[in-house]
Amino acid sequence: MKGVVFNAAEAAVVELFDEDTWDDILDAAGVDGVYSSVGSYEDAEMMAIVQAASVLTELPVEDVLIAVGRKALTHLADRVPDLLGGCTNSFEMLRLIHDVIHVEVKKLYPDALTPDFTYQELPGEGLRLGYHSHRPLSALAEGLILGVGDRFGETLSVQRQEPEDLAKPTDKGASQVVYIDVFVEETADTAADSANQGAGASEAVH
Ligand code: HEM
Repeated sequence: MKGVVFNAAEAAVVELFDEDTWDDILDAAGVDGVYSSVGSYEDAEMMAIVQAASVLTELPVEDVLIAVGRKALTHLADRVPDLLGGCTNSFEMLRLIHDVIHVEVKKLYPDALTPDFTYQELPGEGLRLGYHSHRPLSALAEGLILGVGDRFGETLSVQRQEPEDLAKPTDKGASQVVYIDVFVEETADTAADSANQGAGASEAVH
């Protein structure tokens, strides 16, 4: 796993908690915690950090991955600002992950092993992402997707459908595919509208 992901995880933990918590997590995980963005580190090291964070925060591993991914998105996106300037909403950005964002990531970090994403429209204006990876990090993907929503002021509902057969290689050659269904529950505009309506309603009462 590339150091840039560890750097983003550190930034997320410091934002959610503080520097001391990150240091405590590193101590508990038994790692030195020095990560160069372009360096490569064992996946097991990331797993040990996530496990230690789970014990220290008393949160399930999945919840740690979701919370960290959600905050880490900003820090990853800051590495590729030029790619994202044209995006005006979450779905536009999500559609760029496979063909644009992770392609650029591989130019910046040539030995990066990014997951593959496939896309399918869902009835009701939803988007189904197929997460194809050798790594069991679909919860991290869920967090990153929620972070994309935060970026555009959109509340997303994200539903992961776990793979039926983990051992069966997918057509992308990955060891698993997890489908992640995304719907926009609320946009910044609709939130403002309902707040205004709420204000109107309370005025009417007075
Ligand atoms: C927009 C939403 C994004 C999603 C859902 C996403 C998803 C993921 C996931 C789940 C992984 C973990 C590796 C795996 O599962 O195999 C990953 C790896 C990675 N992603 Fe993304 N990503 C997103 C955006 C970005 C952005 C903006 C960057 C910009 C730097 C980025 C850079 C990377 C890098 C460097 C790795 C590590 C690859 C390696 O260590 O070999 N991703 N991505």
